[in-house]
Amino acid sequence: MKERILEEIGKVNDLKASEINDVENIRIQYLGKKGLLNDLFLEFKAAPSQEKKEIGLLLNELKIAVQDKIEALREAVVSEEESGVEKDDLTKPSTEFTLGSRHPLSIVRNEIIEIFSKVGYVVEEGPEIEDDWHVFSSLNFPPEHPARDMQDTFFVENREDGNNAVLRTHTSSVQVRVMETQKPPIRIIAPGRVFRNEAISARAHCIFHQIEGLYIDKNVSFADLKQNLLYFAKEMFGESTKIRLRPSYFPFTEPSAEMDISCNLCGGKGCNVCKQTGWLEIMGCGMVDPNVLEANGIDSKEYSGFAFGMGIERITMLKYNVKDLRLYFENDMRFLKQFTSVY
Ligand code: PHE
Repeated sequence: MKERILEEIGKVNDLKASEINDVENIRIQYLGKKGLLNDLFLEFKAAPSQEKKEIGLLLNELKIAVQDKIEALREAVVSEEESGVEKDDLTKPSTEFTLGSRHPLSIVRNEIIEIFSKVGYVVEEGPEIEDDWHVFSSLNFPPEHPARDMQDTFFVENREDGNNAVLRTHTSSVQVRVMETQKPPIRIIAPGRVFRNEAISARAHCIFHQIEGLYIDKNVSFADLKQNLLYFAKEMFGESTKIRLRPSYFPFTEPSAEMDISCNLCGGKGCNVCKQTGWLEIMGCGMVDPNVLEANGIDSKEYSGFAFGMGIERITMLKYNVKDLRLYFENDMRFLKQFTSVY
């Protein structure tokens, strides 16, 4: 009986049981509830008890053989279907796939990089886990400066020599890394993540992004700084954008300034975003303090330079009118899907 059944199933194979449904029908015919095998098992119940052991063994053997045969048939059909080119319907529309989009912060970072590379700046990077020297000391921060406080800075490791490991609080540390390894002329921008011990709100976050700029050469003046920043403001926010520099203070620049752009939403007339002033603050800047040049082995009598630093979140907020910083980090698709760009 076993041979006969296997032969029968084999014949179906020869007949090119080409569809998985055919295989299923065969399975039902032999192994289904009302199939042949089940009938045999029912009959087996009535067999004389001294013969049960022998018949039982044979029956099981038969069942396994049939299962194997049908499984082999199924595999043959499936692999034929997969490889069978002529079975594909080439006129079927393809399945839809959605393209991802860049994060708004990446878009704006890339745009800023593009603008500065057009006038000769090259991108440099530095570590996010820094030390006191690169974040503070070499940048002319006095020992008691409040930025060195635990309230502002994340400390990673306290070291005996005082050169503690910290998460960088600004990308100005990359200025130092570059001055250590390159000789002027230097013209770099450094995008990257920075960390400050701030409570998270719509206007502040403990992680954010900055872009730093540094230019050192002979005879670099404040006029060069102004012109570079005006060029950037016009490229980024439109040809009619004006800039304004207000005196400010940073330990590593002298003189220092805060740069405002004319409000790109109201054109300077005054609105909610610029709080009726017509101006938006976008970055800090200044002439590199001679102490910083000297601390990094650059002769401050021969060379001068300027530096600037801006927050990418802030620029992105102004560019796209984003009102809450937290949106950048929540990865809500409804927010992210709105941004498309060539950058
Ligand atoms: N590092 C400063 C900050 O984080 C910005 C800055 C950079 C200011 C370079 C002047 C020059 O606020």
